[in-house]
Amino acid sequence: MTELTQARYHAGVHSIDHFALNVPSIPDAKRFFEAFGLEVRSASVQGEELDLRATDGHRWARILPAEKKSLVYLSLNCYASDLQALREQVLSAGAPLISPVPGDKDTGFWFHDPDGNLIQIKVGPKTTPQAKDPSSYSGAAADARGACTRSSMQPVRPRRLSHVMLFSPNVPAAVDFYYRALGLRLSDKSLDAIAFTHAPHGSDHHLIAFAKSDARGWHHSAWDVDNVDMVGEGAAQMAAAGFTKGWGTGRHVLGSNYFHYVLDPWGSFCEYSADIDFISAGHDWPAGDFPPEDSLYLWGPPVPPYFIHNSEA
Ligand SMILES: [Fe+2]
Repeated sequence: MTELTQARYHAGVHSIDHFALNVPSIPDAKRFFEAFGLEVRSASVQGEELDLRATDGHRWARILPAEKKSLVYLSLNCYASDLQALREQVLSAGAPLISPVPGDKDTGFWFHDPDGNLIQIKVGPKTTPQAKDPSSYSGAAADARGACTRSSMQPVRPRRLSHVMLFSPNVPAAVDFYYRALGLRLSDKSLDAIAFTHAPHGSDHHLIAFAKSDARGWHHSAWDVDNVDMVGEGAAQMAAAGFTKGWGTGRHVLGSNYFHYVLDPWGSFCEYSADIDFISAGHDWPAGDFPPEDSLYLWGPPVPPYFIHNSEA
């Protein structure tokens, strides 16, 4: 592992507010995300748009109808005192601002990143944790049962969004742009194949991650649950609902989170994630470059061939 350094000098976003995803079937989306444990609400009279919420009550995603699955936009939040500096950083990083998007009432601005993803920056609540979430897992005491019965298992409901991963045809260029424009810092990477970035005001080890592909694309959203047991229970919950394909259960090396990825109906993934590394505000995380064979997972089943497949390429 090689340690990498980045200069520290400018403003940064602090959170993901929400993402908007086009999907080819709203009924399929409703079934999938409800089975996953999210609260799915109709966001229009005819029910052709959905909102996704976790148990924290935040609206983390909009699901919109389209011919094909794709990211519509990613909305990121910042402090009011950073908005103007971020606008200037985006311009000096080479991304022209887009005139206000119709219907947008937020105070903020929009632009395309170098891969063509539409990004919104606005003043909004800090949705990333201030400190590491408790991820309690302790064995049962003597003389007590450690597991409940299958029939009494409670549904798994993610408590918040943790991160998103995008395919990029040029991962180093994406990392460089998101650092210069938005202040996201490199957490760790593996060659030019995969990179993880965090926000400078305290965030999970990855807020936005990038994986190499021929084209841009949406790889996964990851949702935080209480502990590794709930990651496994989430996998069982999805299997019972008919969503058996994916990758896991296992533990990542970069980010250290326990994971289980479930294949969605459009070839991308939703991840149950627990106990991901947390980088405190102002902490200088020693970003590393890890060889591929020593970066992806500490334990777990082999990676299925469809896991790093860009269904939008
Ligand atoms: Fe992930």
